[in-house]
Amino acid sequence: MKLKIAVLPGDGIGPEICEQGVNVMTAIANKFGHTVTYDYAICGADAIDKVGDPFPEETFQTCMQADAVLFAAVGDPRFDNDPTATIRPEQGLLAMRKRLGLFANIRPIETFPSLVHRSPLKDEIVSEADFVCIRELTGGMYFGEKYSDEDKAYDTNIYTRKEIERILHVAYTYAQRRRNHVTVVDKANILASSRLWRKVAQEISQQYPNVTTDFMYVDNAAMRMIQEPRFFDVIVTENTFGDILTDEASCITGSMGLLPSASTGEHTPVFEPIHGSWPQAKGLNIANPLAQILSVAMLFDHLSLTDEARLIRKAVQASLDAEVRTPDIQVEGGKHYGTSDVGQWIVNYINNIE
Ligand code: IPM
Ligand code: MG
Repeated sequence: MKLKIAVLPGDGIGPEICEQGVNVMTAIANKFGHTVTYDYAICGADAIDKVGDPFPEETFQTCMQADAVLFAAVGDPRFDNDPTATIRPEQGLLAMRKRLGLFANIRPIETFPSLVHRSPLKDEIVSEADFVCIRELTGGMYFGEKYSDEDKAYDTNIYTRKEIERILHVAYTYAQRRRNHVTVVDKANILASSRLWRKVAQEISQQYPNVTTDFMYVDNAAMRMIQEPRFFDVIVTENTFGDILTDEASCITGSMGLLPSASTGEHTPVFEPIHGSWPQAKGLNIANPLAQILSVAMLFDHLSLTDEARLIRKAVQASLDAEVRTPDIQVEGGKHYGTSDVGQWIVNYINNIE
């Protein structure tokens, strides 16, 4: 297969982890006889510095012409600490989601047995937790009408039936490939938008009689996730609730540096780690590249190249077993490997396997 990949390294540790993702992708392509070309493009604070726009038109065009986007991270403390800044790196991310029509954000939450002890939860609660959060990504408060003056401000949590229906279909499709269980998370006891979500979900659920559907208020879901994470199979929810719940979900496994995500919708899909740009670690060669590398696995899965995806996951598992790990997940007393060492080890593993 011929693949055209747009690569958006972004800010902070982005470029370092992205390099490892690209190296792994190239190794897999060589192994399986695919031809990949990479088109690099700027975004985030890097793009603000260079052209004054966190998601420039040229970057958008590069994304549109690609089969998939490999994205790393954006964000810079220069902007975080300045509430008056009118242009922010995160706006680039939102612009990318909106312009590419990426309404479905898929965040699989998996536990790795060798890392479960790092979870803030007890092993017996968290081990074998395995669920996926499907977060609506282009609606709700993030994009609804906003207003602010000195005394008053608001954001509008607006959803249309069409937006709700299409994300629900994504969730049910995932559930059918998994354990046939969807949990719709909302706040239907308070919010009108949530009541529409619940009504539409009740209708759509009829089309999937083999899937068990349950409804949970978001506050209750936040609690259940730490009490009994194994309860969940597929969670589907609106943009803001999904933002909050996926941060919670990502840390309970004890391996935030290992969690990839996919954003899909109308145009080119984007694959990126769940974690952020960790500016303090920039250039230190200590960042964990595994979430980025596993994003490449999700990319291959999306293209139905499942053997390719499986080999990446196997190589990542082998690196963990061999304790070739960055400091954030290394065992006590174990050697610290750099970002590039871990990436190179995985590339070698892929090259050398029969
Ligand atoms: C995420 C992030 C983004 C979001 C920020 C960086 C804009 O937190 O992808 O979850 O809020 O969606
Ligand atoms: Mg978030």
